Amino acid sequence: MVLSITVLGIETSCDETAAAVLRLDGGRVHLMSDIIHSQLAEHAPYLGVVPEIAARAHAEIADRTVTAAMDAAGLGYGDLDAVAATAGPGLIGGVLVGLMTGKAIAQAAAIPFIPVNHLEGHALSPRLAADCPFPYLLLLVSGGHCPFLEVGGLGQYRRLGSTIDDAVGEAFDKVAKALGLGFPGGPAVERMAASGDPAAYAFPRPLIGRPGLDMSFAGLKSAVARAAETATDEMAKADICASFQAAVCDVLAARSAAALAAFASGDGEKRFVVAGGVAANRTIRAALEAAAAREGARLIAPPARHCTDNAAMIALAGAERLASGLVDPDDGLSAPARPRWPLDTLSASMAPVYGSGRRGAKV
Ligand code: KG4
Ligand code: ZN
Repeated sequence: MVLSITVLGIETSCDETAAAVLRLDGGRVHLMSDIIHSQLAEHAPYLGVVPEIAARAHAEIADRTVTAAMDAAGLGYGDLDAVAATAGPGLIGGVLVGLMTGKAIAQAAAIPFIPVNHLEGHALSPRLAADCPFPYLLLLVSGGHCPFLEVGGLGQYRRLGSTIDDAVGEAFDKVAKALGLGFPGGPAVERMAASGDPAAYAFPRPLIGRPGLDMSFAGLKSAVARAAETATDEMAKADICASFQAAVCDVLAARSAAALAAFASGDGEKRFVVAGGVAANRTIRAALEAAAAREGARLIAPPARHCTDNAAMIALAGAERLASGLVDPDDGLSAPARPRWPLDTLSASMAPVYGSGRRGAKV
């Protein structure tokens, strides 16, 4: 086992251009720099992420972002042991920018390049700060994904259930759009919900009480959109946001409780991790915390900065892979950009639940 590993991580799969330098020292994580440039201003007028605009914005600032991360860490490229970049899943134009930037630096510095699955980055993100040994149960709630995954170890992911239609973050974004709250929707809905009555609207709680761990948010989203048509004042909008958030909390808490009841950690402590952009939501965190406590589990949620997209989690995935020898023999230079790249390839190919698509399952 190598004692100290220093990795530059690059993340460009959606609308954040991010670079971070991380050192893994005898298993301890030292985050030496962590730069995140959000493209919110570029996408806000369109109320969503526009792939072409994202790709151009990444291309414009990827170099500068990497330089800023290296400077903030006080290191030169010669001090790195590897470069890791998100190779998918995500918007292909953005993924290509990060991938090519990472490969070029790795080749110039004659060090390994490690292509990282963005979802593995989220799955490992709690290990950036918290004491979070394997195995743990993970609920990954982001803009495009919503699976329950059993994380057995590095590279060992088993999907237990997921959404059968929209991801939770997507539902937040669509609700915000219906209410004219702008983009991104999640934080706007959370802010608005703070002054609303969560019992004002009886929105559906899809699939609650049914067997299995799958979830559905499309019907809830449509019910909210219909209610939004009649909401004229700020008070009604706040009530809709609070009631929608309460329905999401109920669904996630009930499914999490069922997932936890079926999950055996083997070491006496059940660890339940919630990660991804939606995990930044305080009401959802509180609901999951309560569900975890009822099941005798410990909830671990990364700080909000590392719930949304960041490069620290990509650098960590790269460093952990290098430390464990889980790297491509050809240094990853031939790794393709993959718009779709399920973490758990086996279950995804047997039962693709979220957008199976022509070229395979997305999640
Ligand atoms: O993980 P992430 O940054 O990007 C993806 O990989 O998708 O997640 C972004 C999603 C968006 O849908 C955004 O609206 C949602 O996370 N989100 C939130 C909050 N902050 C971000 N949803 C609810 N409450 C929040 N505070
Ligand atoms: Zn993400």
